[in-house]
This record gives sequence, structure tokens and C-alpha cells, in this order.
Amino acid sequence: MAHPSIYVMISVKKLSFSYGNLQVLKDISFDLFYGEFVGVIGPNGSGKTTLLKCLCRLLKPIGAIYIDGEELSRIDLNTLSRKFSYISSELDSSMDELTVFEIASSGRTPYMKSIWWESREDERIILESIKIVGLSNLVNRKLKNLSSGEKQMARIARVLSQTPRILLVDEPTVHLDLKHQVEIMSILKNMAKNGALVVAVFHDLNLASIYSDRMIILKNGEIVSSGKPDDVLTEEVLQKVYDVDVKVVKDHEHNMLVILPAIPARV
Ligand SMILES: Nc1ncnc2c1ncn2[C@@H]1O[C@H](COP(=O)(O)OP(=O)(O)OP(=O)(O)O)[C@@H](O)[C@H]1O
Ligand SMILES: [Mg+2]
Repeated sequence: MAHPSIYVMISVKKLSFSYGNLQVLKDISFDLFYGEFVGVIGPNGSGKTTLLKCLCRLLKPIGAIYIDGEELSRIDLNTLSRKFSYISSELDSSMDELTVFEIASSGRTPYMKSIWWESREDERIILESIKIVGLSNLVNRKLKNLSSGEKQMARIARVLSQTPRILLVDEPTVHLDLKHQVEIMSILKNMAKNGALVVAVFHDLNLASIYSDRMIILKNGEIVSSGKPDDVLTEEVLQKVYDVDVKVVKDHEHNMLVILPAIPARV
């Protein structure tokens, strides 16, 4: 039977998770909606990665997670692999021998009628995805022979060719230069604008505040605050969460926040 919260995309109810005796997520509840870009922030070890892993069933928590009204544990694997995409923060060496084309085409696997070859339409989508991330000149290059930033772009190409409804991405910009950070963030934002739910974990509060429609702040496995960036990213909240003095300046010209640690002036 469908759960009443069918109109939200993900509904999390009283979620807890422990690694052995260490409780990392503590009875947290929240809803995520279609077309939202949600930024998750919080100190090292606060439970952000664990939360993403629970949301895509890599970890089995206590409590309930409903996806489109259906309990996550009951969704069959094929539906799940079409609906979800998860990008971890670590680059996984198991894909080192694959080419950019092969990585991007793995996003089509849940849709392909034959596992041996992709259709013309699949191929068109794969090449278009590679083009969007700017790797067209490296289509046949193996992943192990790419820079860290190029590897990240290849992983984004896989997501684009998959067209998931839900994208969970852990520190998407970590290996990227400024231009590529902006490129990746625009790609992710566009996915949300086109109706997907994008949940992204960040340490870069400035980027997070620019692109997030809503933010969730975690500390010690609990939600400290959630809401629009302007409302939750205050000096008081950030000082409490990160245990460091913070300066938040509103740039009215660009309608954005500038967030910096308030360290003593340089000598
Ligand atoms: N496989 C594991 N076994 C035991 N403890 C773990 C495991 N993975 C994570 N932890 C612990 O769980 C807590 C939360 O880890 P998690 O990776 O979710 O934090 P995070 O918010 O993603 O941190 P970071 O910003 O450093 O990536 C940490 O205290 C961590 O040491
Ligand atoms: Mg993490």
C-alpha cells in the first residue's frame, strides 16, 4: 500500500544508523521534493556520507525511507538503478581500465534491451553526455589515464546518460578547478530544474549557498537546521556547527552570500 506522503519524492522518518556501537545518525526526519537542489553540509564526521548511503540503500538504517510513496527496501533493483544515481566522494579504482565511453555507457545499462550493445539512441545519449562534460576529445581514453577532475567529469557523464530522477552526490566539486566547479554545479542545477531531485554534500559553503534551493545542516548525526541558504547560513549557526568564528557577508549586487572563516587579519 502506498504511504500517504506520496507527493514528496523522498520521505525520511525517524532514521537512525550505527556502525557497531557508534551511532552516526540519530532519529532524523525530513522530506525532499521533486525539482529541488538540496545541499547537505556539516563538519567532518557529522554523518553526511552515511546519510547518502542510507538513502540509496548501500547501508540499512533503522526507521523508514519512502521513495515516491514506496518503502525503499521494497523497491526492485532494476527500478532502483533507473531512479537513483549515487556518486561517492572517493574515486573508485575498480573502473580504471574502462574508457570514458564505457563509463558513460554504464549509465544506460538499466535501460538497454541487450547487455551486449547499445542502440543508436543509447549511443546518441552517451555521446551527448560526454560532450556536455567536455570530454569529447577523450572518448577512448581509459579512466586511469585521466586527471582527477576529468575522472569526475566522466562520472558526471555517466549520470547524464542515466537521467536519474534522484541524484545523490558526495562532494561533487572536490577535484575541480573554479571553472569546472561552476560547470558541474550548473549541470546538477539543470537536472533539478528539469524535475530531478539532487542531493549534494558540500564543504564549500559558498558554492552550496549559491546553488542550493534548500540546505540541511548536520552535526553529530542530527539536523541542526534546514531551510533556504539565506535563512540558515548565519554567523551564529555556522559558528555553533563548525566551532569556528565565521563571517557572512551578503553581496547584494549578485544576490549571494560570501562565507569566510573570521580569522585574525594577516600580518
Ligand atoms: N565504515 C565505517 N565503520 C565505522 N565507522 C564509520 C564508518 N564510516 C564512517 N564511520 C564513522 O561515522 C561517522 C560519520 O561518518 P561519515 O562518513 O558519514 O561523515 P561525513 O559527514 O561524511 O564526514 P566527512 O565530511 O569527513 O566526509 C564518523 O565518525 C566516521 O568515523
Ligand atoms: Mg563524507
